[in-house]
Amino acid sequence: MDRNNPIGVFDSGVGGSSIWKEIHKLLPYENTIYLADSKNAPYGNRSAEEITALSIKNTEKLLELGSKIIVVACNTATTNAIATLRENYDIPIIGIEPAIKPAALQTASKSIGILATKGTLSSALFSRTTKEFTKDISVVEIIGEGLVKLIEAGNLDGPEMVSLLKKHTKPMIDANVDYLVLGCSHYPYIVPQLMKILPPNVKIIDSGEAVARQTKTVLQSLNLLREYNTPPQLQFFTNATTNTLQLLLKDYSKFVSIAQEDF
Ligand code: SIN
Repeated sequence: MDRNNPIGVFDSGVGGSSIWKEIHKLLPYENTIYLADSKNAPYGNRSAEEITALSIKNTEKLLELGSKIIVVACNTATTNAIATLRENYDIPIIGIEPAIKPAALQTASKSIGILATKGTLSSALFSRTTKEFTKDISVVEIIGEGLVKLIEAGNLDGPEMVSLLKKHTKPMIDANVDYLVLGCSHYPYIVPQLMKILPPNVKIIDSGEAVARQTKTVLQSLNLLREYNTPPQLQFFTNATTNTLQLLLKDYSKFVSIAQEDF
């Protein structure tokens, strides 16, 4: 594999761009290709078989485009499909899991909240991690019903979003959580709204930085970091007609290319 080939990233839609931003921050000279499978979003209510089939489709496309490593920037796809992807492809594959361990280690109230999709919360990988790290604390698991759909539509702070967030966070506030773990790569985009609703002592954590660090570690260990410190190619592909990706990447608009394509 050529070390100058791109890092391939995919998500069920636009949300994984929050992970891409962390990767680009840490590895600013790496070429990247991002696939937003917005046409099939949300993945969260689909069956494990469907999520696996979509993840295979995205992986094939990223391989076709020459990716040297695949980052699954979607919690639902990671928890449901990463084992199959690793079995089938001879390329490093990085996944994203909710940051349950740091929250469990740091909570003072012994109560943490997790907001994720149904697909993530019901997966075997999620149950294993939660069981392992939360033996002596209480965990409030909430399905973020409706959130991905609104984020995909670019509706980050309208009244519908605010009312859904109030509903989803109420059981956590009632249970006195002091950590809220974001278990979906779309959710970092609604942190400002969450902060307005949650009590000030509640810390919100996501896994973006950890995924970027892991990507760098793996590339380094395989001698696959790009060898040039010149501006990279940063390509985004979406298979939907919305402008949400443009909205979320507005600070990068001079550097990235966004194309609509069917995949
Ligand atoms: C979804 O497509 O339902 C959410 C993606 C994620 O879990 O990160």
